[in-house]
Amino acid sequence: MIQKGEHTVDNSREPFFKLPYDVRQHSIRVGKAILIMSEYCDELKNSFGGSKKELDAAITDAAKYHDIGKLLLSDEILCSTGPLSETDWTVMRLHPVYGEELMLSIGEKNFPSKKHYELILELVKNHHERYNGKGYPCGIKGGEIPVIAQLGAVADVFDALVSRRSYKNKVSINKASEIIIAEEKEHFSPLAIECYKKSLPLLASIYSKKLTFDPKA
Ligand SMILES: [Fe+2]
Ligand SMILES: [Fe+2]
Repeated sequence: MIQKGEHTVDNSREPFFKLPYDVRQHSIRVGKAILIMSEYCDELKNSFGGSKKELDAAITDAAKYHDIGKLLLSDEILCSTGPLSETDWTVMRLHPVYGEELMLSIGEKNFPSKKHYELILELVKNHHERYNGKGYPCGIKGGEIPVIAQLGAVADVFDALVSRRSYKNKVSINKASEIIIAEEKEHFSPLAIECYKKSLPLLASIYSKKLTFDPKA
């Protein structure tokens, strides 16, 4: 059990299902995008060290839980239909830390292996870090950012750009690419941009279809 203010979340694997539907769908799509990018990322395959099947399972879970810390934010922030105020953003920026705490409370025993669990923790904690050190929560930079989080940062932003949210329209895949590639060595690592560019044809074809997953997911 973990508590922030009036919010309490039990430490089973079920918290994912308590996330709003949009966040769950976003998390699943981010997983699909990272899976595609990981095909071109020997650094990730080598550092993980397991089979492709094990890595794919860990990536899918890591993406599924990457925004889990949002469960500990107030409903006004989590379900906001408009742009957030600066104060709300300060709270929102805590979600990677809350997510890490939640995953630590769930514990390694609930996952298939130590490396599977560690990959989840790396993405949860670091998916908003930036290559130039201007991200959050810790402001780590460059190669200090775990490779899964370097890829995850691109996948997360790509999905946000090409998806409609209640408070913003989506942009085209071409426009999203322009924005993402312009952020090389600023927001995103050269490694992640290289994997993204190679993944683009497949990403574009997948995102051109209707990407909605099992409502129970
Ligand atoms: Fe996030
Ligand atoms: Fe996200």
